[in-house]
Amino acid sequence: MKILILGSGGREHALAWKLDQSPKVEELFIAPGNAGTALLGTNLPVEVNDFETIKTTIIEKEIDMVVVGPEVPLVQGIRDFFIQDRVLQNIPVIGPSKEAAQLEGSKDFAKNFMNKYNIPTAASQTFTKETLTEGKAFLDKLNPPYVLKADGLAGGKGVVILSDLNEAKAELNHMLVEEKFGSASAKVVIEEFLQGIEISVFILTDGIHYKLLPEAKDYKRIGEGDTGLNTGGMGSISPVPFATGEFLEKVKSRIIEPTLEGLQKENMDYRGFLFFGLINVNGEPFVIEYNCRMGDPEAQSVIPRIKSDLMDLMEGVAAQDLDMRKMEIDERYATSVVLVSEGYPGKYEIGKPISGIGNLNNCVLFYAGAGNDIENNVVKTSGGRVLSITSFGMTLNEALKNTYINVEQIQYEGKYYRNDLGFDLK
Ligand code: AMP
Ligand code: GLY
Repeated sequence: MKILILGSGGREHALAWKLDQSPKVEELFIAPGNAGTALLGTNLPVEVNDFETIKTTIIEKEIDMVVVGPEVPLVQGIRDFFIQDRVLQNIPVIGPSKEAAQLEGSKDFAKNFMNKYNIPTAASQTFTKETLTEGKAFLDKLNPPYVLKADGLAGGKGVVILSDLNEAKAELNHMLVEEKFGSASAKVVIEEFLQGIEISVFILTDGIHYKLLPEAKDYKRIGEGDTGLNTGGMGSISPVPFATGEFLEKVKSRIIEPTLEGLQKENMDYRGFLFFGLINVNGEPFVIEYNCRMGDPEAQSVIPRIKSDLMDLMEGVAAQDLDMRKMEIDERYATSVVLVSEGYPGKYEIGKPISGIGNLNNCVLFYAGAGNDIENNVVKTSGGRVLSITSFGMTLNEALKNTYINVEQIQYEGKYYRNDLGFDLK
């Protein structure tokens, strides 16, 4: 089969790396891809939300399946675009319909869905510009800290947590009236703060059956000890020690299965990855958010733990016979550290030559913001998150040790990474 992967990050490199190992995959295309995906297939200069150009590409390259990495094309309806197109309607898209992608695209939609199907989540209410006064009165009734969420996609920046009541009211005003996040904050969900430890749980579903993927924990803050600004992710580890069999059973019966039943009852077409952002409150799982895709940087530790053929599983998603496909998981720990550019997530410089890639050993390297300078035959930094390095180990410590040995081999001006992954789990 000829596969097109949409996206350009470490997650898409991990997907490409895994699909490339499948005997069923004849040719890989990645749009737009990065310097890492270029080593595995053909990068195409096509943007992920340019559906018309994607269509031309599919026809020209005779592509058999599309795997969507990021949320934006899904929330914009790429699956629906294919189904409604006479030429594309039989090309499977791994990713949900526009309506089902609202689980990520609208926090208000997700909250209503969870409440309707009794899926455990923080108590909340949604407000608009017209109900600003009621929103402030609602804040008066809550205990700090206050959690305010822009309804729509805001590139991971739409959640604001404040401990001061007046600041929370001002932020509500900022979001609703001054449109801090544009139309994404035309509605704001205010919710109860949940105290616990976060975990990312993933499934691959054909809409009827599902396979539980390895769970992971990501590290979002720039600073060690989970301090400083939020980033796109500084690393991930899988499995998560506190995700015992008992905890995962609760996740399945209270969250995953009711979610799939709800989607079916609502007649929403969901075929793809579904990501449950959870918080473990004293052993009880609650949903913080749904995402309609794999996580980044979780994919970089989750995908390498899948031993089975991912292409076979994706065929199962398209054919809705996922129950007939095999899913074997590597028992070992995988840890993935992200190397970033100095200054990230604020301002940073790019174009720094990267050396040491040839010295890596006993690990998998995934590229993100790294590009090939073909003229000078060198790889250069091209983004905030540059590379991620994943290694395995029989224990969390062993996996981390193997990862950090390799992290030290890479050199570029302004290299920064977190040295404390897993600090909260030991
Ligand atoms: P989200 O974009 O929904 O993942 O939220 C961003 C981050 O805000 C999450 O990863 C959590 O750390 C935090 N968060 C969101 N909702 C809550 C909540 N109800 N209670 C505590 N922390 C939360
Ligand atoms: N790592 C969190 C996300 O992909 O949204």
